[in-house]
Amino acid sequence: MCGIIGYIGQKKANGILIEGLKRLEYRGYDSAGIAILDQGEIFPLKCVGKVHELAKKVQSHFQHSGTIGIGHTRWATHGNVSEKNAHPHLSNGNNFAIAHNGIIENYLPIKAFLIEKNYKFYSDTDTEILANLIDYHYQKEKYLSFAEIIRKSLLHVEGTYGIVVLSKIFKDEIVAARKSSPLLIGLGNGENIIASDAAAVARYTKRVIYLNDGEIASVCSDNFSVITLGEGSVDMVYHELDWEIGDEDLGDFPTHMLKEIFEQPSSIENAMRGRFTEDASSSKFGGLSLTPQEFRSVERLLFCACGTAYHACLEGKYLIEKYARIPVDVEYASEFRYRNAPLQRNTLVFVVSQSGETIDTLAALQEAKRKGYPVMGITNAVGSTIARATDSGIYQHAGLEIGVASTKAFTSQLTILSMLALLFARVRDMDDFSGRQYVYALKTLPKTIKEVLKLSEQISAIAEKYYGQGRFLFLGRQTMYPIALEGALKLKEISYVHAEAFPTAEMKHGPIALISEESVCIFLATQKEMLDKTMSNIQEVKARGAKVIVITSNTQIAWEVFCNEVIKIPETHPGVNPIVSTIPLQLFAYYVGLLRGCDIDRPRNLAKSVTVE
Ligand code: AGP
Ligand code: GLU
Repeated sequence: MCGIIGYIGQKKANGILIEGLKRLEYRGYDSAGIAILDQGEIFPLKCVGKVHELAKKVQSHFQHSGTIGIGHTRWATHGNVSEKNAHPHLSNGNNFAIAHNGIIENYLPIKAFLIEKNYKFYSDTDTEILANLIDYHYQKEKYLSFAEIIRKSLLHVEGTYGIVVLSKIFKDEIVAARKSSPLLIGLGNGENIIASDAAAVARYTKRVIYLNDGEIASVCSDNFSVITLGEGSVDMVYHELDWEIGDEDLGDFPTHMLKEIFEQPSSIENAMRGRFTEDASSSKFGGLSLTPQEFRSVERLLFCACGTAYHACLEGKYLIEKYARIPVDVEYASEFRYRNAPLQRNTLVFVVSQSGETIDTLAALQEAKRKGYPVMGITNAVGSTIARATDSGIYQHAGLEIGVASTKAFTSQLTILSMLALLFARVRDMDDFSGRQYVYALKTLPKTIKEVLKLSEQISAIAEKYYGQGRFLFLGRQTMYPIALEGALKLKEISYVHAEAFPTAEMKHGPIALISEESVCIFLATQKEMLDKTMSNIQEVKARGAKVIVITSNTQIAWEVFCNEVIKIPETHPGVNPIVSTIPLQLFAYYVGLLRGCDIDRPRNLAKSVTVE
């Protein structure tokens, strides 16, 4: 959840660490700290609250010019949020400083052991035991290398960790190690940066190496080496980040979320680039190199994901079943991993994750692989744990998504899933002409999205009227149901207001009891074949005092007569319609959150990627 950064090079580490921590802020945290090695001593500085508070402290009284240091944004698991519990933690005698993401599960017996050896503890964290355990192993076997000392220490540790360790004994290196918590090394020129998230290194270098579980890296300014915790061999793969410099900057936008909403024409374009067949009647994915026979032999698909990515999968189910006629199951990854679900032969499993680090999704992936099923990934973060653990997969190429509430990553997942529906359909029973129509609709999507984004002012004005209401219901049928779910999730995340979603017809089976004058019902009425039924449902809630906002592409019906607000979007192919319909809901959530005074990019209690169970 939280962030790690380490720098070793020729520049002053202070500024680079603070800058790196700022890039990690979006992941969620409660306190922050850095430690610098300067003239042979380690100097820590910590604070509760935001990184800019830490930056102020550095400015006013921390002018160390050391060129090696580590930093951390903490999301407390053991011990309250306080300066003493913030990282980095020092070992007794200050030989070592450590920043840690994760949880040391057996910290109590290790702590008891170290207390017996006369080590003192000053925090309530599980992390501090690691600092002293490392010192214990150093004192015991002083001839060992830094990485070996860390290896010996970690052999006693159970739990999850991404760590960076700084030492005044080993002055020219930082050691990093991981187990179930991401870490990567950004390789620069005469400088290297270690971080838990590529966002912190992207502006310095695009060349990165992701550490695997059980790997321990010793990182110097112009080289690095990796050993493993156990017997396994080192599996080093170089990756090029595909983010543009400046992706992490706001530009003229007030928030990352709004910037990312407006980036959707290009993120969708990037999801499609080079992925249509030459005859423009189907799609293709380099990472999905099945033969037509293999495609045909797939009898069932299973999608596993969490949160927004789960909603994308649900949309994938509607589209794939509609166009390719293959049965699709969709499971919350957190449920699937423990459910021991019976899977049919010839099932192809997909895991979908923007961050590629969600622990539940990773566990579902491992469970499916354990049972011998081929697992494909759809991820945005190149080289992420899930991307590397899948048999093959598809990158979203949406660019860095910083806003905690996922927007452009969702529509790029929808785009890829829509293209998958087309691909499977074309090897099954979709004809050439229908394929071309589908491809045309996909190719013109970026232009259509630009049109919809022009509704931003209208949607802001609508939000102004209703942001004070207490209850929002999002209603959609068929392919619009997952979009309704996502609309409700966005609103909850960003504005903390109660929002729920239902398939429109389900409303009368219970949720209608919630309807009162306090309610706002948002209807997705973009499918021609569903219009009559939807209009009746609108009347039902109107009759009970609810305010009605309708999103529609139908221009024949006089919606204004019986709806409070009408948002008109262009009519599109049903295979891409859900993507277009998502945009007004994202904007609505954004403006309601803004008007309610919420912290849009860092909503309370949420983290950008959830790497704890
Ligand atoms: C998105 O707005 C959410 N913050 C959250 O539901 C997210 O989609 C979920 O945690 C899955 O993340 P992933 O795509 O990185 O795996
Ligand atoms: N378990 C550690 C602590 O509570 C690390 C938490 C984190 O991942 O930030 O300090």
